[in-house]
Amino acid sequence: MRLVFLGPPGAGKGTQAKLLSKAHGVPHLSTGDLLRDAMAKGTPTGRRAKEFVEKGALVPDEVVDALVRERLPGVRDRFLLDGYPRNGAQAAELDRLAAELHAPITAVIYIHVDDETLVKRVSGRRSCPKCGAVYHVEAKPPRKADVCDACGTKGLAQRPDDRAEVVRDRLAVYHKSTAPLVERYKKSKLLQWIDGDRPIEAVAADVARAVQGEAGGAGGPKARPMSGRAKA
Ligand code: AP5
Repeated sequence: MRLVFLGPPGAGKGTQAKLLSKAHGVPHLSTGDLLRDAMAKGTPTGRRAKEFVEKGALVPDEVVDALVRERLPGVRDRFLLDGYPRNGAQAAELDRLAAELHAPITAVIYIHVDDETLVKRVSGRRSCPKCGAVYHVEAKPPRKADVCDACGTKGLAQRPDDRAEVVRDRLAVYHKSTAPLVERYKKSKLLQWIDGDRPIEAVAADVARAVQGEAGGAGGPKARPMSGRAKA
C-alpha cells in the first residue's frame, strides 16, 4: 500500500490518512505536519516555510521535495502521503523518487468536497498544540470541551492559516496548482474518487473499500476509479 491522499484544504485527507494508518499500521507522511513541526522547532526549513504557510501559499518545491526525499526511503514499502504532491513539478519529482526506490504509487485517493463546505469545515478545526490530534467543533468534538482526548492537554488551538481569508487563498492555490493533478492521476488509472461531503465514518468506509479494490477486492459505489470525468 503506497498511497497519495489528494484533495482541497479541509477535505479530510489528514483525518482519513490517520484512520487508515491506525487500522493498517501504515506510516502517515504529511508534508503540512512536517512543515508545522519544523516551524514550531524553528529549524532552517521551518524558518523558510513560515511566510508561505502563513499566507496560504505553496512552500517552494525544493524545500518540500527535500522533506519527502529524506523520509520516503525509510518507509518505501508502505506509506500514506498526505499533502504531496501539490503541483506538476512535485508529481514529477515523486515519479522520479518512486522509480529510484522501486516503489510505485499504488493508488491516489482523491477526496472531493465543494468550496463552501470546506471554508465552514476548516474554520471549525481545532488541534492539540502538544500532540497534534485534530478535532472539529461540530463534526468531531473532543469528549471533554477544549481538552485533547489523546493526551489530556487543555486549550485546543486554531491553525493560523485556518482563518477564513487565508482559507480562501489556499483554495485558490489548490484550484490553480493542485487540482490539475486529478486529471494526471486519472490518466494513469491510479485515481480513486471519494465523495468527502459525508460523515467521517462513511468517508472512511469508502476509503477502505477503495484500498481493498486496489488490493484486488471489490470497489464501493462511491469509491471508484475514474475513467470518464475529472471533478476538482
Ligand atoms: P496541509 O496541512 O497539508 O493543509 P491542506 O492540504 O490545506 O489540508 P488541511 O490540513 O487543511 O486539510 P485536510 O484535508 O487534511 O483536512 P482534515 O482532515 O484536517 O498544508 C498546510 C500548508 O503547508 C499549505 O497551505 C502550504 O503552505 C504548506 N504545504 C504543505 N504541503 C505542501 C507541499 N506539498 N508543497 C508546498 N507547500 C506545502 O479535516 C479538516 C477539518 O474537518 C477537521 O476539523 C476535521 O475534524 C474535519 N473533518 C474531516 N473530515 C470531515 C467530514 N467528513 N465531515 C465533517 N468534518 C470533517
